[in-house]
Amino acid sequence: MTETAVSEKAASSGNVVVVTHPLVRHKLTRLRDASTSTAGFRRLARELSLLLCYEATRDLKLEPIEINTPIEPMTGETLSGKKLCFVSILRAGNGILDGMLDLVPSARVGHIGLFRDPETLRPVEYYMKLPDDIGNRDCIVVDPMLATGYSASAAIDRLKNAGAGNIIFVCLLAAPEGIASLTKAHPDVKIITCAVDRELDDHGYIRPGLGDAGDRLFGTK
Ligand code: URA
Repeated sequence: MTETAVSEKAASSGNVVVVTHPLVRHKLTRLRDASTSTAGFRRLARELSLLLCYEATRDLKLEPIEINTPIEPMTGETLSGKKLCFVSILRAGNGILDGMLDLVPSARVGHIGLFRDPETLRPVEYYMKLPDDIGNRDCIVVDPMLATGYSASAAIDRLKNAGAGNIIFVCLLAAPEGIASLTKAHPDVKIITCAVDRELDDHGYIRPGLGDAGDRLFGTK
């Protein structure tokens, strides 16, 4: 089965949206390729996150607005309803934040710092900063990799404790294990991704995956 076939099978399940646009598939392949440079990886991650943001904001509410074109008055449409907050799970989340902000520059941004304990693979929090009015905003949580799902669940637990209601999770790649665990913990959260890969390995890496997203984004090892 091709990777695309794996993705499309997963796409049919409940609250997971796999964005299978040809540009996304092309850019994701370049992103996965181990020979892609740090600069290339960063640029591709930004472009892919912009395309994912387009999908994540599909249901934003609109209201009519009267404007004048250079030719005549007309009724246009403008965004209404709740404002957005992007929440980046540090550090790799920052690699897909800029593409989202390219599309919605007025969004507020929260950060949740979690690292994976290498033994237990469980998230340990070291930082959290959210806008005061988080309860009045729709939240889009960003992290490039949905692997075990532990970090995503922990971040969403904290957001809900802070009053956030409507939450979408956006990632570049997901593992079936991560989808199962996030969906079990937070069945109300929609997951938007470029692909669902085969499996997790014993170290919690997604296979075939793209390696360590943070290291590839920031040129560390
Ligand atoms: N985090 C990564 O950066 N890569 C993986 O494959 C899994 C988790």
